[in-house]
Amino acid sequence: MDESESPITLRVRNPGLIFHSDMPRFWFCDNPVITHGFNAFNLVIPEYERYFVRSVNHYRKQIKSASLSTQMQGFAGQESMHAKVHEDYFVWLRSKGYRIDGYLGLLGKYALFSERMYSPRFNLAATAAAEHFTATLGAIFLNATNLHKQMEPTMYQFVAWHAAEELEHKSVAYDVLQQVKIGYFVRVVAFTITLLEVFIWINAATYMLAKQDKLSLWRMYQYKRQFRKEFKGLNWIFLKKLLTYYRPGFHPGRAKDEFNVDELLLTARNQ
Ligand SMILES: [Fe+2]
Ligand SMILES: [Fe+2]
Repeated sequence: MDESESPITLRVRNPGLIFHSDMPRFWFCDNPVITHGFNAFNLVIPEYERYFVRSVNHYRKQIKSASLSTQMQGFAGQESMHAKVHEDYFVWLRSKGYRIDGYLGLLGKYALFSERMYSPRFNLAATAAAEHFTATLGAIFLNATNLHKQMEPTMYQFVAWHAAEELEHKSVAYDVLQQVKIGYFVRVVAFTITLLEVFIWINAATYMLAKQDKLSLWRMYQYKRQFRKEFKGLNWIFLKKLLTYYRPGFHPGRAKDEFNVDELLLTARNQ
């Protein structure tokens, strides 16, 4: 059976999370820089995930496979819910005094500009690339169980829910890309540019938030080093998995690291 024909049902789940005002400011490992790395990722998600949905939906009429069409609908539903819940989290960040709206405005303008500048085929290739990024990050996170104990429980539920759904729908954009016959060259150029964009936007936001907490560059470096020491090798595993996208015969469905989202949510709630 071709990977694109694998019958998965993508359900839209509302995790029903409430970001309480008493959640600790540095909710991850009690480490400001690592918390802000995750916060930075949060900031880019709504803008980009809505863009992913538009990029995939552009090809809706060209997709003849009924199973892939259904998955495209599920993909759109899940990403829209992710965007909404991440925006709820923005409210918590603002309540803690973080000034994020200037950054969000700039990101919005850039995203709109690049979407118009790129062709629909390139937008779809960038989406498939970004989906590989989020699914790889999701798998690393869900497998690193020693990390989970270091997180505030609501934030763990939040990240685990999103990570598991990213794994659940990891093949959808890529299957559309294959169906509309986007070749290797466009696929890997889009991947390289997307990685660069993600790197710049996330690092800029991490720096901005850490600066708002009045951390010096030296303190930022020390917090980063402390995390790397504690969770040795995580960066390299991530990079190794990420770069498999450059293989000519790559398909996201070949990495068998699915997690059961409903089970994960239930376990996380009972923690
Ligand atoms: Fe998502
Ligand atoms: Fe996704």
